[in-house]
Amino acid sequence: MFWTLLLALILLLVLQAQLYVCLRELRSSTTSVISVIPNETTNSSTSRRIPGAIIIGVRKGGTRALLEMLNLHPDVEVAKAEVHYFNLDENFHKGLDWYRAQMPLTLAGQVTVEKTPGYFTAPMVPPRMWSVNPAVKLLLIVRDPAERLVSDYTQVLHNRIQQNKPYKPLEELLLRRGHINPNYKALQRSLYHQHLARWLALFPRKQIHIVDGEALIRDPFPELQKAEKFLELPPRIMPDNFYFNTTKGFYCLLSAGHDKCLDESKGRPHAPLSNEAFQKLCRFLRLPNQIFFRMTGQTFDWC
Ligand code: A3P
Repeated sequence: MFWTLLLALILLLVLQAQLYVCLRELRSSTTSVISVIPNETTNSSTSRRIPGAIIIGVRKGGTRALLEMLNLHPDVEVAKAEVHYFNLDENFHKGLDWYRAQMPLTLAGQVTVEKTPGYFTAPMVPPRMWSVNPAVKLLLIVRDPAERLVSDYTQVLHNRIQQNKPYKPLEELLLRRGHINPNYKALQRSLYHQHLARWLALFPRKQIHIVDGEALIRDPFPELQKAEKFLELPPRIMPDNFYFNTTKGFYCLLSAGHDKCLDESKGRPHAPLSNEAFQKLCRFLRLPNQIFFRMTGQTFDWC
């Protein structure tokens, strides 16, 4: 009787130790490959996964064009709508399962990509994103911050007109007694160095790929080649996936016989701004731009 009890006790201890090792292995693998954990499985091969790569901004930088162009790659699946998980408390508090449910179905080995330009400028986003997946690959598409500001204003203007809301001319918002108004929100969103500093406090520089938005407009293919490399994807996007549409005045996409241009809210005429005010804006942005170039180790041909 004594020997039977002793044997049973030893067996129990061995089983417990094995269970502990298994649990530890499971935990370490879930933290390192969090982006590929299947949750909602529809069949044996597809599931929704949290993104392996995120386009974090900049607003009006060409984020939609970049997302659609990356989607040409057979190993990429994208969330069609902006998710706003990390920047809106009401979404963040819905939890990771809600976030995952917004993602497209993917096969193992495919990369899930989402874009929410509001992420770049929202201070709470980098720590939240880091805590969910510190290995996530970040894509930041930038554009001349002065042009970006005018585009930003133009978008807000169109929205306000559509909603029958009153609006002010750009110059009235941008200038106060003839000087640049540093409190204008669209100007603050153009101070890239301030926002990037928060990301670099957590994510290594090599984890952030910076796409030149103007270069993407001029000739998308080379920018897509660089993005493929950054995402460690085999080269599958080809020059003949793009053609210049003279009516649109921009490149459009071609894939499997389908032709796709971005909608009319992308690439529309900008609201007017006097040359004098634009030059003031350029002068104001000169130093912030230099700091951004130094931070990134990249330079851009901005005003
Ligand atoms: P404008 O409307 O100011 O020209 P986002 O998608 O981040 O809102 O960016 C919109 C910008 O994408 C547009 O700004 C446009 O210049 C740019 N863009 C880049 N490639 C484009 C393309 N192939 N078609 C349309 N717009 C494109």
